[in-house]
Amino acid sequence: MQPELLANDIGVAFGRTEILHGVCMRARAGELTAIVGPNGSGKTTLMRVLTGELASGTGDVSLNAHPLAGMKPWELASLRAVLAQSVTLSFPFTVREVVQLGLSSGWNARTADAAVLVENALELVDLAGFEGRYYQQLSGGEQQRVQFARVLTQIWQPMDEDGPRWLFLDEPVSSLDIRHQLQIMEIAKNYAERGGGVIAVMHDLNLTAMFADHVVVMHKGRVAAAGAPGEVMNDALLAHVFGCHLKVGKAPPPGTAFVLPHSAYG
Ligand SMILES: Nc1ncnc2c1ncn2[C@@H]1O[C@H](COP(=O)(O)OP(=O)(O)OP(=O)(O)O)[C@@H](O)[C@H]1O
Ligand SMILES: [Mg+2]
Repeated sequence: MQPELLANDIGVAFGRTEILHGVCMRARAGELTAIVGPNGSGKTTLMRVLTGELASGTGDVSLNAHPLAGMKPWELASLRAVLAQSVTLSFPFTVREVVQLGLSSGWNARTADAAVLVENALELVDLAGFEGRYYQQLSGGEQQRVQFARVLTQIWQPMDEDGPRWLFLDEPVSSLDIRHQLQIMEIAKNYAERGGGVIAVMHDLNLTAMFADHVVVMHKGRVAAAGAPGEVMNDALLAHVFGCHLKVGKAPPPGTAFVLPHSAYG
């Protein structure tokens, strides 16, 4: 059986407000799974449950057939890495120190040459030579790529003897220019192609259509649709979920879907 993430009947409430209602989803290792949906539809809340950060009121999650609930923090840290939607650092860390935070929570701290790994990760995200710069003095997009490098160093190899590792990315390209959006998505896709699992919350539907193997569409705390991008990305569903007018087309071969925004109102 292909290793996978399975979430079953996830329910979350904050106080009396129910945010997620009976969410079920599946993501396979070797694939890039995108979670899309409007602001407030529950994507980040779902990601926090999938990564083990937030306990759900109902339901359970398993990763590579192991229930998350039974895992120790160090087991989780060697199995999956998490890029949060926003990261604030209140101390004057250098870029090197931020990326090294990934090493301290994963297996690499013991088995790899830390300095080389940090350099490799920074080079991969187009930040070679930034090691000594202060994180707070970087641009928003540079900071986001440093955080991506940190996450990668935590689980640098997509597979080990225990199976695939998992990248959880909450809006990994939200601050990036078009070239770096493509670059980060290509790194994530490559991680999946080498056997790892990747789950990414995305707002850009065109990048989603280009890179995702599987798309989960969230709407008001429920899964509105799930499947291959070509199946779930259609005018009617997207207009219903996002509440605006748009047109899904097909680019020249290989026929990737693209979404043309039309208007926010009728
Ligand atoms: N800790 C919390 N306490 C109370 N309400 C919360 C909490 N976290 C999230 N919510 C609410 O849950 C809903 C879903 O939030 P969530 O962050 O999951 O949305 P999202 O789909 O990630 O949105 P976005 O695209 O804006 O990031 C929102 O209405 C939000 O206000
Ligand atoms: Mg969010």
